[in-house]
Amino acid sequence: MKRDIISVLDMKNDFGEFIDDGIKLKRNFKQGRKDSSMDRKTLGMIFEKASTRTRVSFETAMTQLGGHAIYLSPRDMQMGRGETVADTARVLSGMVDAILYRAFEHKNVVELAENSSIPVINGLDDLEHPTQIVADFMTIKERKGHFSGLKIAYVGDGNNTANSLMLGAGLVGADFWIATPEGYEPSERFIRDSKSLARKHKSEMEVTNDYREAVRNADVVYTDVWVSMGEEKEKEKKEKAFKSYQINEKMVSLAKKDYIFMHCLPAHRGLEVTNRVADSKNSVIFEEAENRLHAEKIILKKVIR
Ligand code: CP
Ligand code: NVA
Repeated sequence: MKRDIISVLDMKNDFGEFIDDGIKLKRNFKQGRKDSSMDRKTLGMIFEKASTRTRVSFETAMTQLGGHAIYLSPRDMQMGRGETVADTARVLSGMVDAILYRAFEHKNVVELAENSSIPVINGLDDLEHPTQIVADFMTIKERKGHFSGLKIAYVGDGNNTANSLMLGAGLVGADFWIATPEGYEPSERFIRDSKSLARKHKSEMEVTNDYREAVRNADVVYTDVWVSMGEEKEKEKKEKAFKSYQINEKMVSLAKKDYIFMHCLPAHRGLEVTNRVADSKNSVIFEEAENRLHAEKIILKKVIR
């Protein structure tokens, strides 16, 4: 049976392996060891929205593993001119070995997966960003060595990244606090699923509007953009609502001294984070971005057989 990765929950039985093997693959690569596990394999990559990290990391991961990736944008594809998602899935299934799909709507990722005989990887949609989360927990493990008893504070929008991060924290058993302005909390479903995962580890999973409570004594402070791709119309309203949720020196002074600052990037410096925090010695944002490359390798190895 094929394996899709549409949600972090699709990694729930072996999430620890994604993290540890991702770190191993990074080490092997740095030691110059060759890995040709994607020899003659092809990844089709459909991007409905912009991307720097996801595109470059998947494409480079395929190259480094001896395979090939094809970048497909709806501007150039027939899908952009009305060919259905289902027909696109059926056609690509006869040619490539897996599809990475960055979509505006989660339902289209599901539809593509349902109509493909090959694995589909969610490269970000309106609900989740699962591939990011593998790199994030690799980064936390490399820096902190463990998850149990660790406090992760996410401050900002209850968006796709936040939903996936919450589920990831629930899976590894880290304490997770999310602070958003009122009305921007993650949706009930993600809160419920994450809380139920956390209960198994007896770890904390808290949703609050009080960023002080979230950041106090945190080991990890994480944020994402306030205005996600596709929400441009809400820019003014959201920037106003999120103003006091900026990650600045005052905010992080509440965290542990050796806290790490994380951001999936791209960062809007001066909005959700100041330069002084993003460029501080506590910031691991570029390590986190680099880890995308190795996270994608373990994801590809897990789904392409
Ligand atoms: N973090 C992330 O997914 O970045 P891109 O939008 O550049 O792919
Ligand atoms: N939440 C952001 C993440 C970008 C990687 C967005 O969806 O635009």
